[in-house]
Amino acid sequence: VSVLRPSGTRVAILGAGRVGSALGRVMVDGGYEVSVAASGDPAGLELIASIVMPGVTPRWAAEAAADADLVVLAIPLHRFATLDPALVAGKIVIDNMNYWAPTDGVQSLFEDSALSSSEIVQRHLPAATVVKTFNHIGYHELEEDRRLVGAHDRRALGVAGDDPSAVQLVAAVVDRLGYDPVTFDTLRAGRTFEPGGPVFGVSLGRHELGRAVRARAVA
Ligand SMILES: NC(=O)c1ccc[n+]([C@@H]2O[C@H](COP(=O)([O-])OP(=O)(O)OC[C@H]3O[C@@H](n4cnc5c(N)ncnc54)[C@H](OP(=O)(O)O)[C@@H]3O)[C@@H](O)[C@H]2O)c1
Repeated sequence: VSVLRPSGTRVAILGAGRVGSALGRVMVDGGYEVSVAASGDPAGLELIASIVMPGVTPRWAAEAAADADLVVLAIPLHRFATLDPALVAGKIVIDNMNYWAPTDGVQSLFEDSALSSSEIVQRHLPAATVVKTFNHIGYHELEEDRRLVGAHDRRALGVAGDDPSAVQLVAAVVDRLGYDPVTFDTLRAGRTFEPGGPVFGVSLGRHELGRAVRARAVA
């Protein structure tokens, strides 16, 4: 994958809802080759995709993922169990999902676990390399909060994963899309990006975000 040449990088977004379409728009704007899939036939997505995410190609999930250099999970966690792990085997997977019982319902897989939600996602996708990011920014902010490198009010996004090269690759995507990536070298660190954590839904610069995450990690 060359993150320096986004036009050569294929991104599959699984989930065509609020987040999937917002990410589709910013990824196309960033120059990536983007496909999107919902749970069923892509024919049902063609009209809406042409209107809300022009340039994004609707595909079957299996086909989009098979061809992708990078797969983004933008599906509700209560639907996560419907995802076939074989679809993303060998792929770098961005986990943008949150567990939030008021909308997901109580999910025994995620409720009261000592693990972060992304660690649970990684366990269910053992042949994929999971990196957590984008989960702590609202879909409606994804486009408007983007800034050029060096802007004084450039927002930071945490990028957490156990595989250093996957973290660096995803961080470069985050940067290209208009955010300062702040990297963490464990998926577990992504727990601090979850709902109720210190950076969830809060616009922070990179120093503030790094401090907030480290303070929680030692607390
Ligand atoms: N909303 C936000 O601001 C926000 C911000 C950050 C993170 N998140 C997280 O992002 C995730 C998605 O949220 P959302 O608000 O975008 O949800 P949403 O609007 O309800 O959209 C969910 C999408 O996922 C698709 N989907 C479900 N199961 C699938 C599968 N197995 N394969 C492919 N696609 C599947 C659905 O397709 P069908 O209609 O065909 O089932 C639908 O297109 C959630 O985990 C949420 O916590 C949300």
